[in-house]
Amino acid sequence: MRGARRPGDEDQVAVRGTGVLLRRLKRAPLPDDAQPAPWRPEGTTLVTGGTGALGSHVARWLAYHGAPHLLLVSRRGANAPGAAELVADFEGLGSSVTLAACDAADRDALTRAVDSIPAEHPLTAVMHTAGIVDDAPVNEVAAGQLERVLRPKSGAVSHLCELAAAHDLSAFVLFSSAGSLLPNVGQGAYAAGNAYLSALAANLRAEGIPALSVAWGAWSGGGMAGKEEFAKFISHRGMDLMTPHLAATALQQALDHGDTDVMVANVDWARAGKHLNAIRPHPMVSELVGTGPIPAATTTTEQPALLTRLSALTPQQRLDALLDLVCAEVSTVLGYARTERVAPDQAFRDLGFDSVMGIELRNRLNKATGLRVSPTAIFDHPTSEALARHLLDELVAEPAPFTEPDRETASSAAATASQAARHEPPAASQIDSMSIEEMIRMARGDRPDPVGESE
Ligand SMILES: NC(=O)c1ccc[n+]([C@@H]2O[C@H](COP(=O)([O-])OP(=O)(O)OC[C@H]3O[C@@H](n4cnc5c(N)ncnc54)[C@H](OP(=O)(O)O)[C@@H]3O)[C@@H](O)[C@H]2O)c1
Repeated sequence: MRGARRPGDEDQVAVRGTGVLLRRLKRAPLPDDAQPAPWRPEGTTLVTGGTGALGSHVARWLAYHGAPHLLLVSRRGANAPGAAELVADFEGLGSSVTLAACDAADRDALTRAVDSIPAEHPLTAVMHTAGIVDDAPVNEVAAGQLERVLRPKSGAVSHLCELAAAHDLSAFVLFSSAGSLLPNVGQGAYAAGNAYLSALAANLRAEGIPALSVAWGAWSGGGMAGKEEFAKFISHRGMDLMTPHLAATALQQALDHGDTDVMVANVDWARAGKHLNAIRPHPMVSELVGTGPIPAATTTTEQPALLTRLSALTPQQRLDALLDLVCAEVSTVLGYARTERVAPDQAFRDLGFDSVMGIELRNRLNKATGLRVSPTAIFDHPTSEALARHLLDELVAEPAPFTEPDRETASSAAATASQAARHEPPAASQIDSMSIEEMIRMARGDRPDPVGESE
């Protein structure tokens, strides 16, 4: 953060008694005279989400570095897939392990789990990795979704803070996400939960608790970013996976140097910049990617262009054109090379689509067609072919779908208009070609809209 010079350009501003502050993501090289204080696990380390992907990678790293006792907490506890193998693995490295089935956001259950810690291994460190994803863009996040996603983040951390205050901890590490820092699509609730952890770390540090929030980029080795297609999706946007070993080395470094709030991610900023600045500049990352080329405004010119093109085609050609569009957008979202195309009948699920990718596809199609495609459309119409048909239905259902209506539609609409004005019933063949809105207007005796204008 530093003093604002041009607040008008900024989208993240904090007004404080000391002045107006701006947010900037910067590289954080170690100073030449850095004096690390090597951190090592002692006593018990509590790992929330300890049977999950990152939780178990971190627990293995702790065991490898001599952690005497690990308390691994997750809602499923010993029933989590692979839990028994994890225990055997960590015990083989010399740590004793306790698995607790406990919702970390349940204060009483968490207290019981911590009370079970053997006296000879007092609690000295917390690694809070518990988390879930349930994606939706910020304007579509439902209350229940927000509750579910925040529960293991801000919900659990308030109880962990009580523990931190009551024990002499050497590390209190909060697993946040780069998704809370970098502009991304569809993680409305998740980004908020993680941003909360990062802000909290600074407050805790000010209170004397050795808090560290790491906004992680994507890890390889399973977990939330583990699917191959998702890796391709984010790689296309500049973020590549980190091996658990590399990530753990960065965590060690952050702990050794007493960091409070860092992002650790494997980002190619040149590649990322093209994506980050595609819609508008993001001052927060400007020192890493510049302000980059911003394409000219597209909304008013591009949307009618597709509709104009479609209006000159037969119904089958329209479907073919929309299918081309959907296949191309699906390929782009998947990060395929330009020449690679998905098969029209391949299910999105089989292609590796998840909710973030679904939202990205929906947004791209909205932009290309001018429609407001429903958030569930890609689940309801799960192949490119089905989705293209749905888009065609939606476009035809619009009061005035195409800017230049074809001759047949124009003359039919004109005939309906003059009949409605004279209160004459239209011929049966004309009713067949009317939209529901036109029929309702006719039934009400309203004058139809002039051809070419929408409501
Ligand atoms: N994977 C990545 O690349 C990545 C990147 C950035 C940030 N992160 C962060 O790292 C953390 C771990 O991610 P991951 O990929 O390892 O996910 P994961 O494999 O799904 O593991 C999440 C763990 O959290 C547990 N959990 C969820 N809610 C809980 C609750 N209320 N109380 C206790 N445990 C709970 C889950 O077990 P139960 O279902 O049995 O409770 C599971 O063990 C998350 O906080 C995520 O935001 C991950």
